[in-house]
Amino acid sequence: MSGSRILNSALRSKIMSADEAAAFIRPGDNIGMSGFTGSGSPKAVASALAKRIGAAHERGEDFRVGMLTGASTSPDVDGELFKVDGVSLRLPYQSDPECRSRINSGEAYYTDVHLSHVAQNAIWGHYGKIRVALVEVVAILEDGRLIPSTAVGNNPTWLDLADEVIIEVNSSFSTKMEGMHDIYQVALPPNRQPIPLINPADRIGDQYMRVDLNKVVAVVETNAPDRDTAFSEPDENSRMIANHILEFFQNEVKQGRMPKNLLPFQSGVGNVANAVMAGLNEGPFSNLTSYTEVLQDGMLDMIKSGTLSIASATAISLSAAAQTDFFNNIDEYRKRIILRPQEISNHPEIIRRLGIIGMNGLLEADIYGNVNSTHVLGTRMMNGLGGSGDFTRNAYLSIFMTPSTAKGGKLSCIVPMVAHVDHTEHDVQVIVTEHGLADLRGLAPRQRAKLIIEKCAAPQFRPMLEDYFARAQKEVSGQTPHLLGEAYNWHLRALRGESM
Ligand code: COA
Repeated sequence: MSGSRILNSALRSKIMSADEAAAFIRPGDNIGMSGFTGSGSPKAVASALAKRIGAAHERGEDFRVGMLTGASTSPDVDGELFKVDGVSLRLPYQSDPECRSRINSGEAYYTDVHLSHVAQNAIWGHYGKIRVALVEVVAILEDGRLIPSTAVGNNPTWLDLADEVIIEVNSSFSTKMEGMHDIYQVALPPNRQPIPLINPADRIGDQYMRVDLNKVVAVVETNAPDRDTAFSEPDENSRMIANHILEFFQNEVKQGRMPKNLLPFQSGVGNVANAVMAGLNEGPFSNLTSYTEVLQDGMLDMIKSGTLSIASATAISLSAAAQTDFFNNIDEYRKRIILRPQEISNHPEIIRRLGIIGMNGLLEADIYGNVNSTHVLGTRMMNGLGGSGDFTRNAYLSIFMTPSTAKGGKLSCIVPMVAHVDHTEHDVQVIVTEHGLADLRGLAPRQRAKLIIEKCAAPQFRPMLEDYFARAQKEVSGQTPHLLGEAYNWHLRALRGESM
């Protein structure tokens, strides 16, 4: 029923259509938008804006906006806005083909930044003025407080910083989400205090977001589920990767380096990460906890089976089937899930304090343990860094997992020298592929190289890597031996369409 979730009368008077709301957005605006994966992305106003921009371009007018979000969004948001060439600046993460293509053609700028840094950078003004906030919520209370939706992301910051606020109220989400969120904002230096969170289950803030009601220019009612990508069933490689990780965890417990229920884990995005969750769910561990960014299908299954007792995240990013299960059983899930701003879900202070196990995917790693997560063959942006840097640098244990090859076996994911560095050898502790797991802790570069080649490289590339490493040691020596004239021949061959 119209207005039934908008209990504040002042805001009820601002209800309008998505087209009318989009008319508040001007060319050149920076928009602080909700959305962390498809979760919590605006369901109507971004599409309406894309139509408006498309029409302006047809009339020969300039119309582009800066688009700042929590992370990636849905095809209706990134996809439609980039299709009409409506975005001049995008940050901090994306995974949409249209968006990726405009970034790589140089038509749009993309700032690939640690997710935990976005709020403070925006507050300092590094991205320019955030004039408009476009934020999805589940409902508006009588006093104007907002029940956040399936992702919190940077929304509290966008609401604070913007001059004009557009709120989408999505009635497809149960109002029983009330109470799942924990909104805590960090002060700026020099006024920072320790963040009082010592367990993933701790609640340290408010259940609601707040906004200056005078800034709200439009309220738009929507009724559409999140559009998140479904995961493929774990393939054989993912299952083998998961098995290596489980075996490794069992040994860590045996050695007394981790408790029986391990330590809180962070799990990255993507199919491999989701498959590892499936492996953990079938493994011997129970009463696990997670302190992560995105809760994917695999983690929901773990909560359901009782393997995972608490999941702290900033977004719930589920396939359509898992969303149905989530909302059908929300009374149970609400006890086990806490959604926080991404500045808190990814905060280095907490990650270090909790002793997180960080598990992320990569595009390629080199024989010394440097990792490229973002740039295909060193140049073309894939998705972005996301929170992998926040976690990898500060985790108790940082694990990278990947199939040993890509593109039908033509590309080796273990190379002599990565063509772009996101995570350095100083932060990467474990690399695992379907062939094995290299525990790099405590090892010097030459020891690392030997182990990574032996445990992680695909058999068809192993002899080439061994040969490279042997000749580099002999011909150049040094702490980290490299044949600089040769290191990137692997990538050059790939660029020519040949096998690496
Ligand atoms: N060179 C070129 N392409 C490669 C590659 C390489 N070395 N390794 C993988 N790829 C391609 C795959 O072929 C696949 O392409 P496709 O989508 O066209 O099929 C794609 O990258 C995804 O690879 P996949 O093996 O399915 O792994 P994934 O879904 O686990 O994703 C990353 C891997 C690196 C793309 C993903 O983990 C990522 O974006 N990481 C950075 C962000 C991050 O870690 N976030 C975590 C916290 S938010």
